[in-house]
Amino acid sequence: MTQAYRDWWRDAVIYQVYIRSFADGNGDGEGDVAGIRERLPYLRDLGIDALWINPWYPSPLNDGGYDVADFRDIDPRFGDLAQAKALLDEAHGLGLKVLLDIVPNHSSWDHQWFKEALAAGPGSPERARYIFRDGRGPDGSEPPNNWRSVFGGPAWERVTEADGTPGQWYFHIFDVSQPDFDWNNAEVRADFLDILRFWFDLGVDGFRIDVAHGMDKNMDGPDLPYDKSGLLDRPSIADHPFFDRDGVHDIYRGWREVADSYDPPKLYVAEAWVEPAERLARYLRDDELHSAFNFDYLKSAWTAAELRRSIDDSVTVLASVGAPATWVLENHDVERVVTRYGREVTAAGAGHAGRVSGAVDVELGTRRARAAALLMLALPGGAYVYQGQELGLPEVLDLPEESLQDPVWERSGRTERGRDGCRVPLPWAVAGTSYGFGSGGSWLPQPAGWGARSVEAESADPSSMLSLYRDALRLRRSIPSVEPLAWIDETTEDMLAFQRGRGFACVVNLGATPATLPAHREVILASGPLDADGRLPSDTAVWLAL
Ligand code: GLC
Repeated sequence: MTQAYRDWWRDAVIYQVYIRSFADGNGDGEGDVAGIRERLPYLRDLGIDALWINPWYPSPLNDGGYDVADFRDIDPRFGDLAQAKALLDEAHGLGLKVLLDIVPNHSSWDHQWFKEALAAGPGSPERARYIFRDGRGPDGSEPPNNWRSVFGGPAWERVTEADGTPGQWYFHIFDVSQPDFDWNNAEVRADFLDILRFWFDLGVDGFRIDVAHGMDKNMDGPDLPYDKSGLLDRPSIADHPFFDRDGVHDIYRGWREVADSYDPPKLYVAEAWVEPAERLARYLRDDELHSAFNFDYLKSAWTAAELRRSIDDSVTVLASVGAPATWVLENHDVERVVTRYGREVTAAGAGHAGRVSGAVDVELGTRRARAAALLMLALPGGAYVYQGQELGLPEVLDLPEESLQDPVWERSGRTERGRDGCRVPLPWAVAGTSYGFGSGGSWLPQPAGWGARSVEAESADPSSMLSLYRDALRLRRSIPSVEPLAWIDETTEDMLAFQRGRGFACVVNLGATPATLPAHREVILASGPLDADGRLPSDTAVWLAL
């Protein structure tokens, strides 16, 4: 087998399918496996290399499926294992790889193990798979410490014991319905190795690892200094008791052995909100994970200085462990880029805390998002595209309160609307029930005008975001992937200009006035028209043949 075949992921474009909102094949208002199968030709024609599908396991969906009740099955509302196998075969037949999402930090409270833990009582082996502790205070009515949930409120919940008395507390970094596993427990460790093999044997090509910087915990750690104003802020302290602890790397070394026992080897992508880049690189050492989302890049403001710093850091630091850089602008947890780049503050915060406020100029945001697409897809390494990003969908900021489902809404005391605004079902058609999403409506209401941003409408318009993505993904295949990035320094400080090899350059103007392009043979692709003098307008990017 050739090295290129084994290392397909190093410069792959991976498309994120948020299954609930992608396409509804059975008409129940929620996306499903059948819907993905129907739309595989769309994904092939878009020009991506692989899909990453958000959790599809049986789940009460308190956190959109990141509350898993059974790691070896599919929720009936999404499909079944036979359909999953068919999807894998069909995707592979079209030359597309498929990654799933594994959630090792916690389960749902509907998981059989958690039910057993509640029934078995304090000190039992069943409870030892999770993190149960006695409360503080004379009657144990105070939580064991002051740690807070990422979604707001305390990270501890008290249970009622089988005899009806108030009992122990369990730890949950996220929602109360997502109890954390104890990763010191041998059964937990062994079970996850088995879960990995279960899906790999079915034909899955790899996993995105949820909260990959969680799992290892120091439950004897001290109370944390929380900032009173930032309910959702994660305290950024060294030796954090539950994020980015060294013990997590040992877990991944074991996972890597499983991945490498397949031919071709399977792939792992880390969702790790860690800083600085040197910490991220530790996850990508030779015997650990393959790749990671570049959240530093996602969070960067739309300025030449900040993006250049992030690009340089990422490329250099990741290269030190032999890992490729990756580029990401959107996912199911953060505000859509058309909206974010249309604000005065264009930087994002971390993960769930990443929301900024302020007026939005969608037209400006769209222009920038187009330029950002060409920038991202010209950089060396891999890239991620979140469903709807290729349509230029904005964040839906005015979902009716009664439709909000993200646990962040309730846990923040209804002060944070949460992440539903980037999870609104996709518009496939100009008109019709739920704009072609499915025959049974859509689980989150789609805004008026959604049809104008549909796949149908944008396919017919050569100047649409979809056409830009299709062109860029096709042309990207001719960018020499082995060529590193070399900055072209003759341009002004508001520009990002770099070559990949002698024949290709990408130039982005982030300044306020039109800029002169470096010498070139031809403009291969542009995110917007050049001005009458052939200059590059503000917030516009081009790919050049040199
Ligand atoms: C990750 C997921 C997010 C989820 C959380 C808890 O950050 O991306 O959607 O809420 O983990 O599983």
